[in-house]
Amino acid sequence: PRHGGGRAGALTFKPIPPNVLDTVIVPNGYDSAVVIRWGDPILPGVPRLDVHRQSARHQSGQFGYNNDFLGVLPLGRDGRRALLVANHEYTNEELMFPGFTTQEALSVEQVRVAMAAHGMSVVELERVDGTGQWRPVGGRHRPYNKRITMLDTPFRFTGPAAGHALLRTAADPRGLTPIGTLNNCAGGVTPWGTVLSGEENFNQYFVGGDAAPAALKPSLARYGISTTARVPEESRRWDRAQERFDLAKHPHEAHRFGWIVEVDPYDPGSRPRKHTAMGRFKHEGANVIVARNGQVAAYMGDDERFDYLYKFVSAKKFVPGGSAAARRHNLTLLESGTLYVAKLTGDSPAAEIDGTGKLPSDGAFDGRGTWIKLVSGDRSHVPGMTAAEVLTFARLAGDAVGATKMDRPEDVQPSLRTGKIYAALTNNTNRGAEANAGPDEANPRRENKHGQILEIVEDRGDHTGESFTWSLPIVCGDPADASTYFAGYDKSAVSPISCPDNVAFDSAGNLWISTDGNALGSNDGLFATAIEGPERGHLKQFLTVPPGAETCGPFITGDDRSVFTAVQHPGEIDGATLDEPASTWPDGDFAKPAVVVTWRLDGGPIGS
Ligand code: FEO
Ligand code: CA
Ligand code: CA
Ligand code: CA
Repeated sequence: PRHGGGRAGALTFKPIPPNVLDTVIVPNGYDSAVVIRWGDPILPGVPRLDVHRQSARHQSGQFGYNNDFLGVLPLGRDGRRALLVANHEYTNEELMFPGFTTQEALSVEQVRVAMAAHGMSVVELERVDGTGQWRPVGGRHRPYNKRITMLDTPFRFTGPAAGHALLRTAADPRGLTPIGTLNNCAGGVTPWGTVLSGEENFNQYFVGGDAAPAALKPSLARYGISTTARVPEESRRWDRAQERFDLAKHPHEAHRFGWIVEVDPYDPGSRPRKHTAMGRFKHEGANVIVARNGQVAAYMGDDERFDYLYKFVSAKKFVPGGSAAARRHNLTLLESGTLYVAKLTGDSPAAEIDGTGKLPSDGAFDGRGTWIKLVSGDRSHVPGMTAAEVLTFARLAGDAVGATKMDRPEDVQPSLRTGKIYAALTNNTNRGAEANAGPDEANPRRENKHGQILEIVEDRGDHTGESFTWSLPIVCGDPADASTYFAGYDKSAVSPISCPDNVAFDSAGNLWISTDGNALGSNDGLFATAIEGPERGHLKQFLTVPPGAETCGPFITGDDRSVFTAVQHPGEIDGATLDEPASTWPDGDFAKPAVVVTWRLDGGPIGS
């Protein structure tokens, strides 16, 4: 056999051990390199990062901070160029500014630097010498390179809530043009070549919730915004740079975040959009699959303890072929459709779900589920709420219809090989604690520290349908811990895994899982397992990131030769600062979030 032997797509790499090293570790036979890091210039006329002379203008032309989602989209047909699209979820001011003391003590210009370090980047890449390694294309002006920032990038609202009174502000009386995108976490690449990105913990950017109109307070609170304090603890105090973050003055500004964003990297002049038809919550991300009848379905998670899984189904159908007319049409698919929320029921007696993770007597955490319709087009299915209210306050709609409270649903992604959908439920240490909801068959562990993987199979394989079966193929943790489960695979051959966050697939359909917050005490990393056949559950660790970092992306290129990983917040450890860093990765001075590519030295497919 050409590459290391065995069946095509078999994961034959030797797993790496858990570790706490201040570097990126990959298996024997592989190499890795930084593709781009925080502060690298991507627009003309901008210098390299100098933390002593940083400015909002510089940061607006440099790669942003805390890269999370990555998409790598081919540019041209020869496999030599690509567009990297990266989310910049949030900032660690203590690791960005020399002499940092408190958020309050930052200068207004430093607040503006932080705003410019949020958002997204598009960077043109080239393949290095025919290998699986990639680097940014040099030279002065790259036409596709782009920064989207919180300072000044206009977006356009689409869908039923666009222009609604709830989205109008003094600066935007028509309610159509929000500025910037916030806390962009996971995302997905659409079949028509755009990138979706989820606006997640937008609540932490606002002050003045105590003086917001009384009628808005319950919904603000349901989204995690303080309605009792003028300045919530650990506030980023962006109101000092832009007044719109003061809800006492601009109470609707919070409604303009928490959406799914769509960016077209192939059309650098295009205005990015926020799709109200896909609902507003702490969006982790969204991943699209084309259903058999041509409608498209997007699967989405709301990353909060006890929040919900959602599905959006487009009203219109995907037009294949890639012509300009087809693409124009496909760009409208996420603007109208039906939003559903998930209700899961177990098939084992409730008494057998004892909170310890012990398998019920039928040998599986599994059951059936329904997608409950919340809104179709501009028609609400939730009594007492209009369509715009259902979309803007999707959490309240989910509460009203009795959706299932999950253990923090992060990335949710369908396998394009099988159509089965995989959700990373990262953890929920409040499950069953105090007055909180107790364990159920889909969230079976009390005070769940390590999380689980949920598999959903739509009935008849129909992504437009309203019923499904589900199971937990992986219940995470140390395989020596009896509460873990790896699809029945021999646990002695499995790598320990904790806090799954992002999922991805290679072209053979293997499931790749990256982690955030490893509660087993070693560094976070990237894992892979077959998810069909006799190797299902044979999970192996492929990569680790430096201390304090979470492992994001991941993205495996269509030719399986490269895996891109985002190393987010390296050195984010209590007490660490830029002056006294807990990590000096990747350059040996202080920690910088960066995108890493890993490839096989012999040119073979990743994982083999
Ligand atoms: Fe930004 Fe849910 O992780
Ligand atoms: Ca069962
Ligand atoms: Ca995440
Ligand atoms: Ca993913």
